[in-house]
Amino acid sequence: MKIVRSINNLKQIIKTFRDNNCIISLVPTMGNIHDGHLALVKKAKLMNTICIVSIFINPTQFDQSHDFNNYPRSIKLDCKKLMLHNVDIVFIPSVSTMYPNGINNYTCMYVPNLSEILEGSKRLNHYKGVTTIVSKLFNLIQPNLAFFGEKDFQQLVIIKNMVYDMHYNIRIVSIPIIREISGLAYSSRNTLLSKDEYKIAHKFYLILKDMADKLRHNIHCVVNLIEIATNQLEKIGFIVDSLYVLDSKYLTYITNSSINVIILSTVWLGKIRLIDNIKVKIFK
Ligand code: PAF
Repeated sequence: MKIVRSINNLKQIIKTFRDNNCIISLVPTMGNIHDGHLALVKKAKLMNTICIVSIFINPTQFDQSHDFNNYPRSIKLDCKKLMLHNVDIVFIPSVSTMYPNGINNYTCMYVPNLSEILEGSKRLNHYKGVTTIVSKLFNLIQPNLAFFGEKDFQQLVIIKNMVYDMHYNIRIVSIPIIREISGLAYSSRNTLLSKDEYKIAHKFYLILKDMADKLRHNIHCVVNLIEIATNQLEKIGFIVDSLYVLDSKYLTYITNSSINVIILSTVWLGKIRLIDNIKVKIFK
C-alpha cells in the first residue's frame, strides 16, 4: 500500500495503473476508519479495482471550528486497517495542497436547492464544502468509480446530482448503512460519546426502526409516528434535531402515492450529533 501526500506523486502512480488498463476506484473519507468505511473498501476490491482511499478532514464543510478541531484523528491506525484490507493507495493531502488559494478564498462547487434544505438549512456551508472537496478529488484522481455510504443520505443524493450535472464520467456506488450489533450506525463521531451515552445511542436506531415498521403498512399515520418517535427519543435523553419522512429520490415531501420513502433523522446525545436513516418501501 502506498501512502501519498503530494498531487504529483499521486498522479504518477495513478498513471502507471491506468497504463495497465486498471479500473480506479475512490473511497473519500475524513479518516478515523471504521467498519462502514471498510465495507466500501471491500466492495471496491470485490469489483476488482485499484482502490484509492483519501483521508482528508475537510475544513470547509465544518461550520464550527471547535467541531473541526475535535474531529477524531487516527492516521496511523487508519493506515494499518486500510493496509489489512489491501487498499492500493492512501492519499493524505494537507489543507494547502487541497486548497491552494486558502480556505477563505476557494473556488467552490455548489449544488443549489438540495444543498439548502434539511441538513443544509442548519449547516449553512456544509454541502458546499462537501461538493467542493469531492469534486477536487474527482478532478485529481479521475476515478472510474466512487464509493459512498448511505448514512449521510442527503450527501449521496447531492453528489449524484453533481456528477450528473457536471458530466463527470464516474459511477457512484453506494452501500447501505453498516451497523454495530446493537443497531447503532458506525460513525467516526461514535468514539466521542461517553460510556453512558454510548449505552443508549443504539436506541436511536431501534425507535426509527419501529417507526419504519409501522409506516410500511400505513403511510397516512406519518404525522402521528413522527410525534410518537420524537417523544420516545426525548424521554430517554436525546434531543431531536430533525425527523423527516420524505420521498427517497428527490427528498421531497411524500404524497399518498409515494412508494420509496426514507426516514431521515439527526439527534443530539450530549454534545454529539448523531445521524441515521431508514429506507421504507410502502405496501400498497
Ligand atoms: O462523508 C464524508 O466522510 C465526507 O463528507 C467526505 C465525502 C469524505 C467529504 O469530505
